[in-house]
Amino acid sequence: MSTLQGQPAEIATKTTASTVTTDVIRAEELRRHYRMGETVIRAVDGVSLSVRTGDFVALLGSSGSGKSSVLNLLAGLDRPTSGSVKVQGRDLAKLSREELSRYRLHTVGMVFQSFNLIASMTVAENVELPMRFAEVDRGRRDALAREALARVGLQARMNHRPSELSGGEQQRAALARALINLPQLLLADEPTGNLDSHTGIEIMNLVREFNQQLGMTVVMVTHERALAERYAQRFIFLADGKLVGDEMNSSSALRLGEHRPGVEGER
Ligand SMILES: Nc1ncnc2c1ncn2[C@@H]1O[C@H](COP(=O)(O)OP(=O)(O)OP(=O)(O)O)[C@@H](O)[C@H]1O
Ligand SMILES: [Mg+2]
Repeated sequence: MSTLQGQPAEIATKTTASTVTTDVIRAEELRRHYRMGETVIRAVDGVSLSVRTGDFVALLGSSGSGKSSVLNLLAGLDRPTSGSVKVQGRDLAKLSREELSRYRLHTVGMVFQSFNLIASMTVAENVELPMRFAEVDRGRRDALAREALARVGLQARMNHRPSELSGGEQQRAALARALINLPQLLLADEPTGNLDSHTGIEIMNLVREFNQQLGMTVVMVTHERALAERYAQRFIFLADGKLVGDEMNSSSALRLGEHRPGVEGER
């Protein structure tokens, strides 16, 4: 798996402009309630939080606590029942359809809990899809997709369809797709949930490189406290749709990673 060192200069500078902004995300009294017949499910129930540019945040909580629902709201894939989400100062609810799709294309990259790869397309076509929407020309798309797949160790599978890949390989393809436009904000829902621990660590080291070297802000949902302790700077805990904890990571594992991002033996 390669590192960011070989990236073209334009890629290396793309996210630096945003580092002057302090808060990339600001959510206020965010609610997402689902009505199911007579009952109302309060999936997200009054969450206020802010995330600074360049942060690496782990969103923790038991199954059903509202983690994916929060992430979908931050990604602009769902609208809050009430409350607001601002990303880089822009209220997502006030964006037009076109602005919202541009936001999803350029600002945010998302790795879903279920990979959401398109079954009829090859892995390479899936990965280059965001660039097709961004009207990047074909030759460049091919080269960047190839490079993104090499980064996640999937170059040999690029002409396969998702159904021919293992769960972990599909997750890696989904990560390559999320990163291809070099978003300023990466929202990842259990990005290592289907991976063996070695591949999981490789993926997380890659995400950390993007975070540390390009200043990409990361919000990652995980069930695994150990993974959060190793990579995230901050933990946000959800329970029953409410924010019940917000702590900085003081673990020594993270400090080691911060100062030595490319430590041999961690890869
Ligand atoms: N489209 C929907 N319609 C109705 N209820 C929903 C919908 N999506 C989620 N919910 C409910 O909202 C709550 C929060 O769901 P969410 O998917 O955000 O949980 P989660 O923390 O991501 O859980 P997991 O760790 O299992 O992925 C759950 O009780 C879920 O059943
Ligand atoms: Mg979920």
